[in-house]
Amino acid sequence: MSTLAIRGGTVVTAADEMVADVLVDGETVVALAAPGALDLRADTELDAAGRYVIPGGVDAHTHMEMPFGGTFAADTFETGTRAAAWGGTTTIIDFPIQSVGRSLREGLDAWHEKAAGKCAIDYGFHMILADVTESSLKEMEVLVGEGVTSFKLFMAYPGVFYSDDGKILRAMQKAGETGGLIMMHAENGIAIDVLAEQALARGQTDPRYHGDVRHALLEAEATYRAIQLARVAGAPLYVVHLSAQQALAEIAHARETGVNAFAETCPQYLFLSTEDLARPDFEGAKYVCSTPLRPAEHQAALWRGLRNDDLSVVSTDHCPFCFKGQKELGRGDFTKIPNGLPGVETRMDLLHQGVVDGHISRRRWIELACATPARMFGLYPRKGTIAPGSDADIVIYDPTAEHTHSAATHHMAVDYSCYEGRTTTGRVETVLSRGKVIIAGGEYLGSPGHGTFLPRDTCQYLR
Ligand code: URP
Ligand code: ZN
Ligand code: ZN
Repeated sequence: MSTLAIRGGTVVTAADEMVADVLVDGETVVALAAPGALDLRADTELDAAGRYVIPGGVDAHTHMEMPFGGTFAADTFETGTRAAAWGGTTTIIDFPIQSVGRSLREGLDAWHEKAAGKCAIDYGFHMILADVTESSLKEMEVLVGEGVTSFKLFMAYPGVFYSDDGKILRAMQKAGETGGLIMMHAENGIAIDVLAEQALARGQTDPRYHGDVRHALLEAEATYRAIQLARVAGAPLYVVHLSAQQALAEIAHARETGVNAFAETCPQYLFLSTEDLARPDFEGAKYVCSTPLRPAEHQAALWRGLRNDDLSVVSTDHCPFCFKGQKELGRGDFTKIPNGLPGVETRMDLLHQGVVDGHISRRRWIELACATPARMFGLYPRKGTIAPGSDADIVIYDPTAEHTHSAATHHMAVDYSCYEGRTTTGRVETVLSRGKVIIAGGEYLGSPGHGTFLPRDTCQYLR
């Protein structure tokens, strides 16, 4: 086995910050020591003086090659995981889809086939339940045994992914029995569809109306309902892509009263707003995602939630569609714009900007982006930290380098950046995935197939 040492950086984990040397043997971290105390010379020596040495990011919410609205998310597992690596993320958890009338197994097999041999970094799977039946409920148990331990349900998108409350309750009961975690897309899709139809009838076809009809109160109402259903079922709940402060208040109240309710938000809700959705000349389509972007006032509440742990995780919900040819499908009818934004490459930097701007601490940055998603989804301490025995998924991060975001320089397979021209402070310099240097000196040194499937344990906050 070859050895590698990272010398003299500030090692930042969710728990600690210390100047230390990190020793890697093969794929694994074997020691952290005071600078100079490790007197052996490793096969590869990396100097990290003046840099942070952080765990590789864990992005618990991506959609590579996802079919949506008659098209597919533009990143494949190959391009998307490479872009993730450029941005300092070394683990993703993606969402295989059960189609209506089909088994979970069929959906899961299809995703294994898409991902195997393609990924630059390690990956796991949640499962989207689009058809809750007796047989899919039975399959949930089998999947938990295979390390697919979390299941996404939708209160939105009637006729596509939507489940009614009875189906949701049944799936939650099964999750409660098996140790699975229900991830909820919490928006009242039935009411949203009525408002969308009424808006179109009034001639309101522009992207901005996507935000209007997906009202914040309809996110809050669905979040409240999901919490009550989870309480009745005796199951934990994880609300995905939370964007409205009223929905956050429902999570906060549930947590105060002892309910196992968790929630994630995404960088787009912290840095973008309805002003972006209202950009002229159909440019707003670039910012169409669900839950939608909210007025900028919501951002302060989200940052507060990230500080006080009512929001436990920051994921990307990476689901990119090119402006040309894909977002354009919704010209003249905002309901036909494929929902989703690119973000897998920019999460670590944007959240670090939250550190620079004083919203969160450095350790909280790592907790939200690495440690908690790993724990939430049964990967800790293999992923999400730097400790003896952990996978050597490590990022050397320059906290002072400036970076101007642009589609011309990013690595995601999408023709626009949500942050075009915006400068953030902090930049990924070197990335290791299981001990292999995959980004260094401005070059990608990885290969498709290096990344392997991660069977996951059940949620580690509940045991
Ligand atoms: O707009 C979004 N979020 N697209 C991806 C699918 C989902 O609901 O997460
Ligand atoms: Zn969703
Ligand atoms: Zn999503």
